[in-house]
Amino acid sequence: MKHTVLVTGGAGYIGSHTAVELIGAGFDVVIVDNLSNSTLAAVEGVRRITGVEVPFVEADCTDAAAMGEIFGRWNFAAAIHFAAFKAVGESIERPLMYYRNNVGSFIALLEMAVAHGVEGVVFSSSATVYGQPDALPVTELSPRKPATSPYGASKQICEDILRDTVISSDLRGRNAGGGLGYAKKLRGIALRYFNPVGAHRSGLIGELPRGVPGNILPFIAQTAAGIRSELLVFGGDYATPDGTALRDYIDVVDLARAHVVAVQRIIGGGQRSDYEVFNIGTGRPVSVLELVRGFERASGERVPFRIVDRRAGDVEAVWADTSLAASELGWRSECSLDETLSSAWAWQKSASDLPNPS
Ligand code: UD1
Repeated sequence: MKHTVLVTGGAGYIGSHTAVELIGAGFDVVIVDNLSNSTLAAVEGVRRITGVEVPFVEADCTDAAAMGEIFGRWNFAAAIHFAAFKAVGESIERPLMYYRNNVGSFIALLEMAVAHGVEGVVFSSSATVYGQPDALPVTELSPRKPATSPYGASKQICEDILRDTVISSDLRGRNAGGGLGYAKKLRGIALRYFNPVGAHRSGLIGELPRGVPGNILPFIAQTAAGIRSELLVFGGDYATPDGTALRDYIDVVDLARAHVVAVQRIIGGGQRSDYEVFNIGTGRPVSVLELVRGFERASGERVPFRIVDRRAGDVEAVWADTSLAASELGWRSECSLDETLSSAWAWQKSASDLPNPS
């Protein structure tokens, strides 16, 4: 039997890649997105890559009536919740907008999921929940640090909301018949992504940053393409081998595959506990300068850069211990950094023809 998976935010960067991998793995997919930071071109890209006329609903996940209609129309086995705002600086300027959107949409989704007997929900979390870890690489047991932005706080809050909802649905399941709106037990997985980069090898979908990119890779790609004159490297005095900060850059296609495995684990009943958390990274620390050099190799273009002061709120180094994902999910990253950077460059060259989200 084919299972149907709801992908909220499926027109976005990670959501669109995940929709492709889900379809490739034999799932039916329904994409829901309000197009606030994405365009229909991504949905078209998913359709062209897969050859499947994926259903798309333009709706805001905070809109309970719209969500009710969607859940009435399809019978979802699982949902993956990507729909969220993601700009750290903007979240500090507009906290209420971030909490309303990121937390409100997740609550609306979970209310529907429990009422309609969805097997489980995968939540799009982030390594940002660890802040600067005390020990590296960071494991899932490392403590979460106080968030330094409403964006980061929204990820922590949503993890907790998912955990508590899973626990409560278990209690309700055991006291069935209480009329509490829980059709059956709900399960959950939070995936903590490290730094997603790269694009689908078809060149049909990828990251479409709005305005000046805040994340490093789109900025590097635009600099290589001559759209920006130079990259500002934030901090050259970190206690790292070359003085620049270390991150774990995970290929978006590898990351998308992790969601497929998480959904299969939920539906197949393979979870060790009903709420689980996994790091999704490569386990390989890469400095800003290594990334720049790698991109120059992959693109054959120069990336002029200048080292400036550290960016407020940045951590020095963070990379994943991926052994839990490997042992439990049977997932590990497969793409080399060179291959990932080549895909980002190919996308940069084709994306200049696409409309940017306004
Ligand atoms: C950032 C967010 C994080 C979020 C993640 C989502 C901050 C402080 N953190 O993580 O909460 O989950 O994006 O993808 O915004 N860099 C430069 N020059 C640039 C841009 C970045 O040198 O123009 C450096 C940064 O200082 C950092 C590295 O590149 O060392 C990666 O930066 P970025 O892509 O913004 O990711 P994070 O800061 O890790």
